[in-house]
Amino acid sequence: MTATDPRHPAPGSRAPVTPGSSTPRRAPLGGRQGPEGSVLLGTISRMVTVTVDGREVRVPEGATILEALKREGTPAQADTPTLCWAPNMKPINACRVCMVEVEGSRVLVPSCARKIEDGMEVRTDTEKVRHSRRMVLELLASSVDMSQAGADVQRWMEEYGVDAARYGEPAPPSDDRDRRHAGHHEPVDGTVAANVAQPVKVDNDLYVRDYSRCILCYKCVKACGTDAQFTFAISAAGRGFDIRIATEFNAELPDSACVYCGNCIGVCPTGALKSVREHELRENGDWHPEQESVTTTICSFCGVGCNLELHVQRGQIVNVTSPADHSVTHGHLCIKGRFGFQHVQNLADR
Ligand code: SF4
Ligand code: SF4
Ligand code: FES
Repeated sequence: MTATDPRHPAPGSRAPVTPGSSTPRRAPLGGRQGPEGSVLLGTISRMVTVTVDGREVRVPEGATILEALKREGTPAQADTPTLCWAPNMKPINACRVCMVEVEGSRVLVPSCARKIEDGMEVRTDTEKVRHSRRMVLELLASSVDMSQAGADVQRWMEEYGVDAARYGEPAPPSDDRDRRHAGHHEPVDGTVAANVAQPVKVDNDLYVRDYSRCILCYKCVKACGTDAQFTFAISAAGRGFDIRIATEFNAELPDSACVYCGNCIGVCPTGALKSVREHELRENGDWHPEQESVTTTICSFCGVGCNLELHVQRGQIVNVTSPADHSVTHGHLCIKGRFGFQHVQNLADR
């Protein structure tokens, strides 16, 4: 260290004034700190008034009903179930589990996609709403393996009284879903519950596709496409109950356009897409989420500065994610950040 090292000024000397190194000043409400101490104003929005379950709340114009519920609602209203919605994605409006009643609307409306209007009256806890949410969750649970869905989804299924068993025994797994032709329907058996059970696709070293767990929320398609990655490696194929997520011409992943960013894994709500590491640990009975700790760090592969969340179980990194609200990644990563942790894992004990 020398006396001129700006990181270590000599005793009594003034600390150097470099952009970004001074104590940050608090940005005013609605704004954020810009370069050189300037203030960047946030978007100025008109506030509108809506009534939620009889209580008036004020939210910025342009917000969705769900955003209003999360921002101004009671804990129960903020806990509106969602499957195809994510805070870092545009509304997809596919699963219909987030439905609410709106005064004057003939049908229930999806809260994640419907924008609020001044004077709107929203009801979130009516018999009609609860029945609709239960039916959506129940039909999904009758045809899809939801056992690895997130904790919130499990809790919602419990709270809404989902009873998937009343649709009968599950039909046997199929190995021909990927070859079914759009528009060609076999008569249904009627004695067993139709489902999407099929073998897990393990065709590369990084992640598996377990479409027995796919609820067709389209999050992976959007993350691979216009919401994050712009690779468009996957899309929906088929029609009706035969619809499934597929690569072009149903190619194996190494022969597809996939760049292995894993952003589809990051948004999948049911465990249909997961890292090979997680898949193997689960298969071997070594998956211990109750012992998992998460450490946030910065990716060291390049200078972009992506925040990484290292999910660690029993001293081993088992997954890497990024916070949805991180200004650099918005929750999305590249192949290096998502999967490039083996060099850490392989270090000798220190
Ligand atoms: S890993 Fe990335 S490129 Fe490949 S399918 Fe998923 S989102 Fe698309
Ligand atoms: S694989 Fe996952 S993210 Fe993609 S549609 Fe199915 S459930 Fe949704
Ligand atoms: S969460 Fe609203 S439609 Fe899926």
